Order: sequence, then structure tokens, then C-alpha cells
Amino acid sequence: MKALVGNETNDGSLVKEVPVPPLREGDVLVKVAYVSQNPTDWKHVATRTPPDAILGCDFSGTVVAVSGGAEKHREHLKPGTRVAGVVHGGLFPDKGAFAEYVVTPADLVWVVPDSFSLSDASTFGIPFNTTVQALVHSQKAPWPPAKQNEWIFIYGGSTGVGFFATQVAKLQGYKVVTVASPRNHDLVRSYGADEVFDYKNADEVVANVLKVTGGGVSRALDTISEGNSQEIAIKTFGPKGGQLNLLLPADPVAQSLRPDVNVVFLLAYTLFGLEFNFGERGQTFMLPAVKEDLEFHRQACAKTGELVENFGLKAPPVTIRGGLEDIPAGFQEMQEGKVSAKRLVYKVAGGN
Ligand SMILES: NC(=O)c1ccc[n+]([C@@H]2O[C@H](COP(=O)([O-])OP(=O)(O)OC[C@H]3O[C@@H](n4cnc5c(N)ncnc54)[C@H](OP(=O)(O)O)[C@@H]3O)[C@@H](O)[C@H]2O)c1
Repeated sequence: MKALVGNETNDGSLVKEVPVPPLREGDVLVKVAYVSQNPTDWKHVATRTPPDAILGCDFSGTVVAVSGGAEKHREHLKPGTRVAGVVHGGLFPDKGAFAEYVVTPADLVWVVPDSFSLSDASTFGIPFNTTVQALVHSQKAPWPPAKQNEWIFIYGGSTGVGFFATQVAKLQGYKVVTVASPRNHDLVRSYGADEVFDYKNADEVVANVLKVTGGGVSRALDTISEGNSQEIAIKTFGPKGGQLNLLLPADPVAQSLRPDVNVVFLLAYTLFGLEFNFGERGQTFMLPAVKEDLEFHRQACAKTGELVENFGLKAPPVTIRGGLEDIPAGFQEMQEGKVSAKRLVYKVAGGN
């Protein structure tokens, strides 16, 4: 098959013929229709991806084979079933999504309802699963539908994670206050945000959030987690403290401002339940397998179709591009901060 892989000189990526990964017990083989790009993809190329590791995490497509051991999923996973999911891209020669075929555990895909496009479905992988990992699993809050009768601060409403976080938080019953560039305020409101402010003026953001929430929040998710975002997010907490989830490592200075706020950095890659090396190229920084995260990921996959079909969960805005060859140009754009409030999606062989 064709796949986008890390190149020999560790300075980029190239489309290359590689073997279709073998099916292990419990796996499905998916013919990829669309893939969606995340910042982690270009970051992997820049810092971690070894030669010939397949890039990319988020995909959609159709099942072409189901291995033995996947029996409990056979009822609804058959050749031809439309599915989407997320894999640990950028590190392994047999796992990435930016390829014509993906092999993944059968219980780590979700079945895409007939009414939902595969291009939209491809965007869920990293941003949706990270969202629920933070807002349900880490914050120990209920799955939607629920009635969390309080405000939550989502820093970064126009990011990929932010579009899902706003919708999921609303379905959990929260009132959502967020930040985005003014050009994206109407869009962010259309995904459910109750209040949205421009993030350019940090003091105003903090004052506005404290004002609209009547004294501050007790839960927040910072979908940017760099620059001054952690400081802003932690300053929006009310007198009771609470929990702030981050997507990049904690800034100790921001953290020290509020010792009563539980600051939790999470990594979507733990959702696969396997040990992996998160060290940059040439370094070893092993992260252990977290069984509870894998179990949660299975739950999330079982739940996604229902959220889409019964509760109207939708994809972020999507721009569809050409094939695998076009992805490195998308990496460049994303790295330069030129991708605002949308996902870049690419049509692979199985797309129509
Ligand atoms: N730990 C994990 O497992 C995990 C999972 C997912 C993502 N991440 C990380 O989380 C970050 C976001 O990923 P993503 O895919 O959601 O992002 P994305 O969609 O690529 O984010 C693009 C958006 O970022 C917004 N933005 C840029 N600077 C901002 C700032 N200072 N304040 C508020 N918004 C700002 C822009 O908003 P405007 O155009 O409105 O200005 C733009 O729309 C990345 O660093 C990614 O690597 C980590």
C-alpha cells in the first residue's frame, strides 16, 4: 500500500510503498477513505518519527477484513461497515493512519451512521477522544446526556479539540465560556458556546470569565496549554478551586498561582493501553500502559455513534484536500499557524 512515512534523514516525510500491516487477533483491516490532520502529526515528524514509521492518527473508511478474536464485534463489523477511529501514528511502521489501509483493534473503531459523511467522521479521532478523556474520564464527570449545572471554561474554542469540547460540555449540561479570535466568535457560538471572548487581552479574558460565571469556574480545559493560556485558565477558577486539564505539560509558574486547582496534563496516546517511548529522537522516556485508559477508549468508541446520531455531535469545519502527497504542505501550514478553526482532511484511495 501507499503510506506517508518518516524519511531516512529525519527531516520530513514521503509517500512510499510499504507492506499492509498484518492482522492480529481482535483486529480489523480498514480501507482508508479520509484522514484528518492534527498538530501532533507535524510535531512527530519534527521531533520523533523514525524512518519508515507511518504518520497520522485520524482516519475513516470501510472494513475489509475482521480477524479471529473480534467475535463480539462481528455483529456490526463486517466487510463494508463504515468506521472511523484513531491510531498511534508517527512512531511505528505498522500503525499510522496516513495510508491506504489501517489495522486497528476492532473495539477501537466507531461505526459511522449512514447519515454522517466519512470525511466528517475522519476528524473525530484525536480531538474527540482527547475531549472525552479530559471532560469525562479525567474530570470524573458523566457522559452526555447529563446536567452539570455549572460553568466550564474551555480555553481555545476554535481549535479542533475546542469544537468537540464545547459540544460535549454542552451535552453534559455545562454552560460554556471560551476564547477565540473575533472572526471565529459566531462560529464558536454555533457549536454551543454561551460566551466567547478574544484571547488577545489576558486581563480582560480573566475579568470577563469571572464576571459571566459569577465568580469563577471549578472546571476547565486548556486546549492550547502554551504561551499565557495556562496562566489565564488558572486565574478563571473560583474560590473553591477545582480541576484544570492541559494538553501540553504544566507550566510550574502558572500552577503555583493556585495550589487548590488540580492541574492534570493528559496525553491521548495513553488511550491505546500500550507502553510507548515518548522521548524525542534518540531519547528514551517510557510511558507505561494504562489499562483504565484503554477501557475508557473502548467505551468512547461504543458511545461516539450515539452522540452523533442522537445528540447531533458534529465535526469541526472541514477543508478537503487531495491525497497523501498533499499532507506535507498541510503540515507546513499548520506549523506556521495558518490553519484557523478547521480541520484539514485528505481523500485517500477509498474516499468517494
Ligand atoms: N495531549 C494531547 O493528547 C493532545 C491532544 C490533542 C491536541 N493536543 C495539542 O493541543 C493543541 C491544540 O490542538 P488542536 O488540534 O485542537 O488545535 P488546532 O485545531 O490546530 O488549533 C488551531 C486554532 O488554535 C487557535 N489558537 C492559536 N493560538 C491561540 C491562543 N493563544 N489562544 C487561543 N486560541 C489559539 C486558533 O484560533 P483562532 O484562529 O480563533 O485565533 C486556531 O483556530 C496542539 O498543541 C496539539 O498538539 C494535545
